[in-house]
Amino acid sequence: MSAPSSPLVPWPYPRWIAHRGAGKLAPENTLAAFRLGAQYGYRMFECDAKLSADGVPFLMHDATLERTTNGHGTGGDRPWAELAQLDAGGWHSRSYAGEPLPTLENLARYCIANGFFLNIEIKPTPGQEEVTGRVVGEYAARLWQGQPVPPLFSSFKPEALAGAMATAPHIPRALLIDALWDGCLDRAQALGCVAIVCNHALWDQALVAQVHGLGMRTLSYTVNDDWAAQRLIALGTDGIITDRVDFFSPAKP
Ligand code: G3P
Ligand code: MG
Repeated sequence: MSAPSSPLVPWPYPRWIAHRGAGKLAPENTLAAFRLGAQYGYRMFECDAKLSADGVPFLMHDATLERTTNGHGTGGDRPWAELAQLDAGGWHSRSYAGEPLPTLENLARYCIANGFFLNIEIKPTPGQEEVTGRVVGEYAARLWQGQPVPPLFSSFKPEALAGAMATAPHIPRALLIDALWDGCLDRAQALGCVAIVCNHALWDQALVAQVHGLGMRTLSYTVNDDWAAQRLIALGTDGIITDRVDFFSPAKP
């Protein structure tokens, strides 16, 4: 006999989520990117958040500064006053030169003012998993206080989700999974997760049924091909994170 299934958690978020703001069309995780994603009709964004050396949550994907800024070394080793001086747009193209690294607070203000939804991927500098979750949780709880829909936290690092759960238990959490690992769904449940965000190739009918049966939602990253999006929609999954904001229209049913 199969285990009784839990009711699916309510889901206030749109299906389509713009990865790092506008995928590759603008410098990832800058406000310019989120503005561009919004121009393409996106109402929900994914971003990557980590801590400066003095504990300010800011947006950057990599641990190191080289790829997406004109700085050097580990971003998390620098105080915010130093990070705030960097050019996070010039690496992408001339038209974005001088674009600064945003704080999480900058992006929160933009999303709240415009009624946009946000998926905050907690992307800790290695070794700072728990504290990053805690501080991002504190910031988000304060910034979204009184807002109708909270942001959605996600992380590949269960310790980061545990930190966020400690300081912002009311903000929903999702476990990111690149490859299925032993006990990952149990771990997600223990962390009170409302969703699993998978590498899209991992979803099949059985896994969608299993995760939905546990009451959690099913999201995918990073989906840039039509065939993949069609497959995920046919499987009945709940959310798609894409770089291709110029190809997928969130307004299309
Ligand atoms: O949050 C989904 C996706 O962004 C996870 O991978 O490496 O692009 O942050 P990554
Ligand atoms: Mg990410």
